[in-house]
Amino acid sequence: MSRSDPSSLKREAAARALDFVTSGMTLGLGTGSTAEAFLELLGPKVQAGLDVVGVPTSQRTAQKAKALGIPLVELDAAAPLELTVDGADEADRDLNLIKGGGGALLREKIVAASSKRMVVIADGSKLVDRLGIFPLPVEIVSFGIKTTIRRIEAAIAGLDYSDVPMTIRGGNQEPFRTDGGNFIVDCAFGAIKDAAALARALGGLTGVVDHGLFIGIASALVIARPEGVEVIERKA
Ligand code: A5P
Repeated sequence: MSRSDPSSLKREAAARALDFVTSGMTLGLGTGSTAEAFLELLGPKVQAGLDVVGVPTSQRTAQKAKALGIPLVELDAAAPLELTVDGADEADRDLNLIKGGGGALLREKIVAASSKRMVVIADGSKLVDRLGIFPLPVEIVSFGIKTTIRRIEAAIAGLDYSDVPMTIRGGNQEPFRTDGGNFIVDCAFGAIKDAAALARALGGLTGVVDHGLFIGIASALVIARPEGVEVIERKA
């Protein structure tokens, strides 16, 4: 594998995030392949004596962390956490994110919002000028999904979006279920004009549990490219 293939870059971003970790920390543990690269680097450090406890953002992450010997704790017993390290599907230079490609957006947001810092790790392909090429995951309750989708359509029409394709993840017959038992609708905006306004509009809708826009939550973005690793910190 060359240094520029995506998995090597994810690993480089994950390795840089380890610099943010110190002994005694409570850590939010993200979900996805980049977050798993971080766990794979964290596990040996824990075995070597690094004293941290983690709060997993998904069942998948909990299993992986346990297998690596990383001690876990319930969020309620540890919040506020010192630091969460997680991946993203898209990020911009204002540290706005789209997350939820792996279906864990709700727990990811709860854990990140319960952390003093969130460090986002990603390869260079995730950094975009404008969010929205990656379809925005919106988690909705399983009761009345068509009605909720119509409500989403009406809300985004009010923000001047039209013809936004919406797909129930996994299909209508056997939809994907989140760890919380909900469904996900992927909304292909193409380009999101005002991410904060969209987040506010979606966040207030009956039937919507949460959405994958993370606004004002990330504190730093670690982007790995073949030419090096860039750390973008939130502007004060
Ligand atoms: C999981 O629900 C997501 O938010 C992931 O953090 C995101 O999809 C990034 O995943 P990768 O690191 O696998 O690209």
